Amino acid sequence: MIFRQLFDSVSGTYTYLLASRRGGEALILDPVLEKVDRYIQLVSELDLKLIKAVDTHLHADHITGLGALRDRTHCVTVMGERSKVDVVSMRLAEGDNLTIEGLALDVLYTPGHTDDSYSFLMHDRVFTGDTLLIRGTGRTDFQNGDARAQYDSIFNKLLRLPDETMVFPAHDYKGETVSTIGEEKAFNPRLQVKSVDQYVELMNALNLPNPKMMDVAVPANMRVGLAQEEIARRGWALSAADAIALDSRPDVALVDLRERAEREKHGVIPGSLHAPYPDLVANVRPGGMLNELARATGRRIVFYCAFGERSAMAVRAAQDAGLTSACHIQGGIDAWKKANGPLVR
Ligand SMILES: [Fe+2]
Repeated sequence: MIFRQLFDSVSGTYTYLLASRRGGEALILDPVLEKVDRYIQLVSELDLKLIKAVDTHLHADHITGLGALRDRTHCVTVMGERSKVDVVSMRLAEGDNLTIEGLALDVLYTPGHTDDSYSFLMHDRVFTGDTLLIRGTGRTDFQNGDARAQYDSIFNKLLRLPDETMVFPAHDYKGETVSTIGEEKAFNPRLQVKSVDQYVELMNALNLPNPKMMDVAVPANMRVGLAQEEIARRGWALSAADAIALDSRPDVALVDLRERAEREKHGVIPGSLHAPYPDLVANVRPGGMLNELARATGRRIVFYCAFGERSAMAVRAAQDAGLTSACHIQGGIDAWKKANGPLVR
């Protein structure tokens, strides 16, 4: 396995690069905008393909690298379903898996630092975001923070993991790099409380100043979505209502770019084909499955995904490959559902 812990000394942020093998798919957790060049260089040095960029929560102390990584590598942006960020490619909930080739991380919803804080468990290690830090816990006094919820996330989820589970947080300000659940149980001063009320009292008495970057970072991080308007301006987008009207026409081929688990959980547009986004480039190039389908049958390719991000990127790639009729459903299956489009599971 490839496991890299990268550090941004300005914000004290840890970013993690994970892959199951050299030459394989990679994911990056909590990337920082100013470090994006470095990540891309490392991904190329290790001969990896960046597939997913994930944030554990909406950060207040640095600008996320999610949008820049998506624009430069066409990776999928991922956050939790509770996040108020405008658009990401994929949203996950407690019990879902965050997967790339050879790796699957369990998604834990661990609110408290913010109401959109998630942790990710991978066998012997857990990425705790700002929920559980080394000898500390994330502040709970802004961004819908809630000390009571954090107590529950820590004591009833994270501390129930095996004691030897390694803890990799999103931040450290003292140079610590890793801990374990057992160590934090025993030595984290914030966790030596007798009750939830005592924890709430402790957290409410911290009186911390706001992060320096907060006024810049929070608004920037709320808007990482790809500008789908540009795709629409070029005439490559259908509204959900227009797509519903086109549905089941023989000259249209609806193509679902999502992963199998997303299809099972959220439903599928009846009669649509499945062509997962990571295989897109191979599918749209001459000789590829979708390219052949469009050329042989004259059918118009209409891509869709969860929120319209992957499909907007797919439209660009298909147009670049010469499929001039390719378009997508703006807003994805989320918009389709809101427009009461039919679904099968
Ligand atoms: Fe945070």
